[in-house]
Amino acid sequence: MRVVLVGPPGAGKGTQAQFIASHLAIPKISTGDIFRFNVSTGTELGRQAKAFMDRGDLVPDEVTIAMVHSRLQETDAQAGFLLDGFPRNVPQAETLKKILIEWEIRLDIVLELVVDDDEVVRRLSGRRTCRRCGHVWHVLFDPPARPETCDDCGGELFQRDDDREETIRHRLDVYQQQTAPLISFYADEGILLGIDATGPVEEITDRSLSALRRFIC
Ligand code: AP5
Repeated sequence: MRVVLVGPPGAGKGTQAQFIASHLAIPKISTGDIFRFNVSTGTELGRQAKAFMDRGDLVPDEVTIAMVHSRLQETDAQAGFLLDGFPRNVPQAETLKKILIEWEIRLDIVLELVVDDDEVVRRLSGRRTCRRCGHVWHVLFDPPARPETCDDCGGELFQRDDDREETIRHRLDVYQQQTAPLISFYADEGILLGIDATGPVEEITDRSLSALRRFIC
């Protein structure tokens, strides 16, 4: 199955992606995670992406598309994938469509996680990520037992540079201007499904999986 998750920053894409991908036994491909890994390991790709990410702007399309094109050719993505954070604008969506047509495959479904801006700010300002295993926590909604330490692996927790309130607001503007047009793009393709992304994490996963089942059957 080939799935795209779309939604504003903090909608819970990364949180849901891990459960949905694991349930469907397909790899989760998160462009944000790949960029952050490259920034933290000091690669040329990370160097190119860092300034854009710190400002909350999109990394240029040619860099992002080349990275995704290469990742989708890896063995684990041949039987399906879940894309989290890509495509992020209409040109990326059009390029993805062309690539998939060339490979004679297609997207099955695009899940839109729907939440309002106030909830986004609440979620992102309390997010903490483990430096070692990448697990995402929230200081109020999903707190670890000890504030600075990951329950899963004992790693140190940190706050992302782009989770400062002013950068969050800018990311929301970027979402409205550049990413929201994808909603009508995929609605026109007949593969868009909106999911209410408020409430407990497990309920949102259940809603997403039920919607996927209904859509496929
Ligand atoms: P990316 O990492 O994709 O950031 P984003 O889209 O802004 O999304 P986030 O990771 O901030 O949020 P999320 O929706 O995954 O929420 P999460 O599950 O963590 O991209 C970062 C940057 O990389 C971009 O700004 C750009 O520069 C670059 N980039 C990436 N892709 C690109 C592309 N295609 N083109 C160009 N540039 C690109 O949840 C957030 C918090 O809420 C967590 O603490 C979580 O525990 C909590 N939470 C989750 N669900 C719930 C719930 N139901 N109730 C309460 N709390 C919850």
